[in-house]
Amino acid sequence: MFKRPRGTRDFLADEMSKRRTAEQILRATFESFGYKEIGTPTFENLDLVTAKSGEDIVEHLYCFKDKGGRDIALRPELTAPVMRLYVNELQRTPKPVKLYYFGNCFRYERPQSGRYREFWQAGIELIGTDRAEGEAEVIAVAFDVLKNLGLKDFELHIGHIGILRKILEESSVPENEQNSILNTIDKGDGEELEGLLHRLGVMEEDREKLLKILELRGQEKEVLPGAYRILEGSKALEELKRFEMILDLLKVFDVEFTVNLGIARGLDYYTGMVFEIYANRLGAEKQICGGGTYSLVETFGGEDTPSCGFAFGFDRLLLALELEKKGVQVECKTRFFVVPTDQKLLKDAMKISVIVRKIGPCEIDLMGRKLKKAMAYASNHEIPFVFIVGEEELRRGMVILKNMGTGEQREVEIARLTMDR
Ligand code: HAM
Repeated sequence: MFKRPRGTRDFLADEMSKRRTAEQILRATFESFGYKEIGTPTFENLDLVTAKSGEDIVEHLYCFKDKGGRDIALRPELTAPVMRLYVNELQRTPKPVKLYYFGNCFRYERPQSGRYREFWQAGIELIGTDRAEGEAEVIAVAFDVLKNLGLKDFELHIGHIGILRKILEESSVPENEQNSILNTIDKGDGEELEGLLHRLGVMEEDREKLLKILELRGQEKEVLPGAYRILEGSKALEELKRFEMILDLLKVFDVEFTVNLGIARGLDYYTGMVFEIYANRLGAEKQICGGGTYSLVETFGGEDTPSCGFAFGFDRLLLALELEKKGVQVECKTRFFVVPTDQKLLKDAMKISVIVRKIGPCEIDLMGRKLKKAMAYASNHEIPFVFIVGEEELRRGMVILKNMGTGEQREVEIARLTMDR
C-alpha cells in the first residue's frame, strides 16, 4: 500500500462535485463585481516568495533546488505571484486592474483538521486604487461569497495595520522591525510583544498607545470614539479617519462586521485596512478568509501602486458549510442512461447513446449487464432517465424512455431524438 504524503488529501467524486459547485459560486460572485480570472505557476523562484512574506510563511515553505541549481518554492499563497504578473504584464492596463484566482497552495505546517500542506485558495486582488470605496468593495465581495454560499455562522473582523505602523513610526521603528512587531502581535503572545517593544526602543507613550489600540474590539460606535481619544495628536489619526470612511461605505452593502484593531496578519506586505473572517464552528483553524490593503508592486520593481485583496481558504470554507449541515447541494450530473435488452443490440444502444449525449450527459452500460441489474445501477446513481433499447421497438424505429422518478415509461422515435438536437 502506498500512502498519501502527510497533509494532502484525495477527493472522491461526491466531494469533488461539491467542491466544483462551491467553486462556481465563488467564481460567479467574483465576476459579478468585474474581476477576471488569471493563472500563475504552481512553483516560483524562492526570492519572490520570501520577499515581504513574513516569518511565518517563510518558516513553512516547501522549497528545493532544481536540477539547474535554482532555488524554487511551491507557492504558499497567490498575492506575490499575482503581483509579479502585474508588474511584468499589466502595469499599462487602465486602472483599476481587477483579478481573481483559484489555485492550490503549499505550506509545510503540522497538519490537523482545517490545516493542510496542500490547500486551495480563492481570492481577488484590486490593483491601482487606494480609495475607500475600493477597499469597502473588496470586503463586500468576500461578504457576498458567504451570502451566496449560504454560510450563516461567521464573524467578519476589520482592523487597520496603517494605524499600528504609524504609531511605531512615531518612535522611528524601521519597516523591518515594524514587521517583527506585527508578526508577534499576530501570534498573540503579549509578554513576547512587550519584551520586543522594549528591545526595539519604542517610546513609553507610543507603547501604551499601541497596546491600548490593540485591545479595541467591538461595534463601530463603541470602539471608534475610544480610538480617536487614544490617538489624539498622533500621525495615526489620519489613518483612523480613512478607516472610518471605509466602515461607513460598508453600510451600503449591508455588510455586518466587528471592528478589531488587534488584527496584525501574518504577512509583511500589509499597510492599511486588514480583515479576517472566522467560522467559529471550525475551532482552532477558524480563519476562513484573510486580506487587506498592501504594497508589493514597488518591492517587485514596479511603480508604487496601491492594492487590496483577500483569499479564502477554500477547504475551510467547505468544512464550515458542512458543519452547518448545509454542505453544498450536488445533483447527479448524468441525465441519461442507455441499456440494451440484449447484448446483440449493443451497437444500436451505443449509437443511441452518441445521439442522446448531444442532448445531455449520458452513460451506457459497460458491464454487459442484464436489464434488471443495469436499471439498478441507474437507480443507485440517481440517473433520472433511462433509454431501454429493445429489438421489437428498434424495428419500428423506436426506443423506450423511462422516467426513473415517476416510473412512467413511453416510446420515443429515434429519428426525433436526432431532430431534437
Ligand atoms: P492568509 O491569511 O495567509 O492570507 O491565507 C488566506 C487563507 O488561506 C486563510 O484565511 C486560511 O483560510 C487559508 N489557509 C492558510 N493556510 C492554510 C492551511 N495550511 N490549510 C488550509 N487553509 C489554509 C494570504 O494568503 C493572503 N495572500 C491573502 C491576501 C490576498 N491578502 C491580500 N490579498
